[in-house]
This record gives sequence, structure tokens and C-alpha cells, in this order.
Amino acid sequence: MEIGTVVCKDETPNTNNFYFVATKESKVKKGLFVQTKTREGLLIGRIEEIIKTNRYFMQPETISNYETSINLHFPTDKWEFLLCKVYCLGILNETVKRANYPVSPGETVKIAENENLEKLFKFDKNGLNIGKLIGHNLEVKLNLNRLFQKHLAILALSGAGKSYAVCVLIEELIKRTDAQGKVGILVIDPHGEYSSFAYDENFSNKTNLIKGKDIRIGLTNLSTYYYTWFLPNLSFAQERDLIKIVEELKKSGDVFGIREVMQKIEESENIKQATKDVLFSTLHSLNSMRLFGYYDTPSIDSLIVPGQVSILDISEITNEKKKQMIVAYFLRELFNKRIKRKIPPFIAFIEEAHNFAPERSYKESFSKEIIEKIAREGRKFNGLLCLVSQRPVHLSTTSLSQCNTHMYMRITNPYDLKHIGESSEGLTNELLKSITTLEVGECVLVGEASSFPLFARIREKVVKDIETRKSLEDECIDYFEKKKNNRKNVRDLMES
Ligand SMILES: Nc1ncnc2c1ncn2[C@@H]1O[C@H](COP(=O)(O)OP(=O)(O)OP(=O)(O)O)[C@@H](O)[C@H]1O
Ligand SMILES: [Mg+2]
Repeated sequence: MEIGTVVCKDETPNTNNFYFVATKESKVKKGLFVQTKTREGLLIGRIEEIIKTNRYFMQPETISNYETSINLHFPTDKWEFLLCKVYCLGILNETVKRANYPVSPGETVKIAENENLEKLFKFDKNGLNIGKLIGHNLEVKLNLNRLFQKHLAILALSGAGKSYAVCVLIEELIKRTDAQGKVGILVIDPHGEYSSFAYDENFSNKTNLIKGKDIRIGLTNLSTYYYTWFLPNLSFAQERDLIKIVEELKKSGDVFGIREVMQKIEESENIKQATKDVLFSTLHSLNSMRLFGYYDTPSIDSLIVPGQVSILDISEITNEKKKQMIVAYFLRELFNKRIKRKIPPFIAFIEEAHNFAPERSYKESFSKEIIEKIAREGRKFNGLLCLVSQRPVHLSTTSLSQCNTHMYMRITNPYDLKHIGESSEGLTNELLKSITTLEVGECVLVGEASSFPLFARIREKVVKDIETRKSLEDECIDYFEKKKNNRKNVRDLMES
């Protein structure tokens, strides 16, 4: 569709920019992709700015003379027109090449055709359909290999639609056929937002929901390395005695948990009483976390199944250390198995990634090390991460810099904007400004997955929500009713 004519203005048309006057009926919008012919081929550009102009209102003296009556004396509305400034992306052939010659003034400008945009962005008909290109009726279908050529980061302020976008990505990953290649999916879910997959008939048979209270790290097969890791405050001698006991238990071939370790320490004649006391109290506090058992639950092998999603719902765990241990242990074991090719390729979505891989932390962070390791080395083994965070400024720079596709949704915090501006190569000041004006559900994709910054509106998700949060009023009424019933029960008991 023709939308205007290229004009000469300032020092344009040049190889970077041109202006065009929009036709009256055209619905031009900022961000729209346009195409025009040049002697090198088809030039694709993006409307960077729209200026409204009217020569009747250019001279302040004229307006001052006529005061408000100018519109009565002259056909002023006929002289109003739109001037659009276009940024030239390049000449479209099989690939997009930088333009070496400008477009000629007088050339017609059209809205970029969908097939040209598909070529421009290298969309893939088998790719992940995340929604529509803003301003165009075109589905954004991202090639899986390019989206996860390394890792993905989804960054935005709270409520901008990050988790919603993750749900859409998971749906698209689950939908893939054997011929397209299915990947195993893991979600670290600190808010219990992904349980809906387990209760939706379309997804329940592809979902493995594990509640925090059921998660266990099994001691029977636990490498002794973890004892040093989980119990960093033991002295060298205490650690040596503990590991000796654990190795004896392992040799016996019996299953064992913390209680059996403690019993064995008690029976030992070679450990000093002072060491025993320290080990008892340390193991006791570890036991009180209710995280350790005989075997891993879930088992590492069952966590990653091609085309299926496993959700570690740790929303009801209040102990930060316990959450970190779970994330650290399961990610480390998965990654080690992936290196040995014992499990299929996987993508781990980590919500609240800044809590599990903080840039700076005042307390020990068990999970940071493994997340940074996977961020650095995971690509080689197709053990991949999607880091989701509302505070990019607090997220480990090492991890963030290894994500070579970034999906930004609305961000307004100046510190976060500065941080992402520094950590993402493809972000111009213009794009940073647009991130502050995005609406809920809109995103800009920058990096490997898309040849040019891509503005998309995330599509509606298919998975049906389950009501996880009650309204404030309902919760207060329920609480009052519960208290009233409790009091009544106590009274009835006393009177009986
Ligand atoms: N693409 C979308 N289409 C329709 N509604 C959306 C979309 N994205 C987000 N929403 C709406 O916005 C709400 C908040 O989105 P979401 O929970 O994904 O935000 P978030 O960025 O994950 O926030 P938080 O950082 O607090 O976890 C959703 O419950 C949903 O109602
Ligand atoms: Mg969220």
C-alpha cells in the first residue's frame, strides 16, 4: 500500500535517513516498517518520527495578526500534512545489506510487505509464535536456534508481562513436533505462577508439577562435594571426619539420610567428642530444613523430558537458603548430566533470576555459581537459560552478558535502564526511550534472535489461569471466618 512520497529535507535523502510526506488517507505510525525502490534494490526502513506541519502556522506574526480568526479566513486544514522521518535499515536481498546510495526524491513509499519483513527478521515458519509485530498484521515466529543460540533474558518492571511471555514461550516449546525437535523445559517458579499448566487439560499430560514441600535432595547418591558446599562453616578436620563417615555409609550400599549419618557419627570411636558436637548441631540444623532424604525427589532424570515442562514450585518455601540450595543442586546435577549427554537438551526458565544470581549479595548465594557457569558454558552443551528479572541492575553481570537475546518489556527505573543500556550491544538511546513507553504485553527483542530490534505484542496465552491470588476483601473475610470457627471449636471443646 502506497503511503507517501520521498521529499528533500535538510541533508536528506541520504544513506541513513529520508523523509516522506504521507498521503492524507494513509495511517502512518511511529515504528512502522516501510519499503521503497532504489537503484540498489528494495530499501527497507523504519519510521523513526512523525512531524505534523502546516505552512499557515509557520510565522508567529501571521497568527498574531489574525489572532484566532485565521481558520475562518484561510483553508488552513488543507495545508496540514504529515512528514515522516525514516531510518534506513538496508537493502533487502537474501540478506540485508547496508545502503550505499540514497533513495531518489519523488520515489513512492509503501508499507513493507509481510514477506519482506519475514525475510528482514529471518522469521521461521516452524519458529516460536510469540505474537504480532507491532503496527503490522504479521506473526512473529522466532527461530528456536537463533533465540537460544546462547541464553535469553526477559527484563521488565513488575507487572509488565514477563511471566505471561514465559507462558507463551513454554506453550510454543511444548507444541513442537518430533520432526521440529523437542526440548526439555524446567521452570524455577518462586511465585507459584506456572501451576496452571498442570491443571489445564491441554497441557496437564505434558506437565510435571513439583511442590516445594515434596522436594528432597537424596543423601544416598550425593557426591561428597556437596557436604563441603552445603556446610561451608565446618573446619577442615570436621569436614574430613564427616566425609569419612559418609564414604563408609556409601560403601555399605545401604540407603541413608541425615539421621543415619548422625547415628554413625555417634557410634564412631575415632571422632573427638568436640567434633561430634559440632557435626551434630550442624547436621541437626540441616535436617530441620526438611530438604534432605534418602533419594532425590524428583529424580534428576525425570525432570527433563523432551516436549514437557517440569515446574519446581518453591512458592511456599520461606527459607531463602533452602530455595537457593534447591535451585543450585538441581541445576548443577542437570548440567553435569547434560555435559555427559545423559539427559536431553534443556531450557531452564529462572524467574526472579536476580535472587538466584545476584550481582552483589551480602549473604552466601549457593545458586549464583552454577547459574554463571551454565551462562558461560551451557551453549556448548545445549543446556540453556532464560533469566527473568524485574531488577536487571541486581542481576549478575556475568550471567546477563552471556544472554545474547534480550527481551525488554516496560522498564522505567533509570538505574535499570542505564544498566541494560551498558549490557546490551544493540540498544540505542532511541530504543531505551521506547522501552519506557511500552504497554503491558509489549516487548522489544534485541540480539541474536532478530536481525533488527523488533517490537512485538505478546499473543494471548492458551493456558487457562487458575486463581492463585484472592482479592484483599475475600482474603480478609476468609481470615475472619476461620478465626471465628477456631474460637467456636475451642469453646465447644471446653463445654463438652
Ligand atoms: N501479552 C499479554 N496479554 C494480555 N494480558 C497480559 C499480557 N501480558 C501481561 N498481561 C496482564 O498483565 C498481568 C501481569 O503480567 P505478568 O504477571 O506476566 O507480569 P510480570 O512482569 O511477570 O510481573 P512480576 O515481575 O510482578 O512477576 C497479567 O496477569 C495479565 O493480566
Ligand atoms: Mg512474573
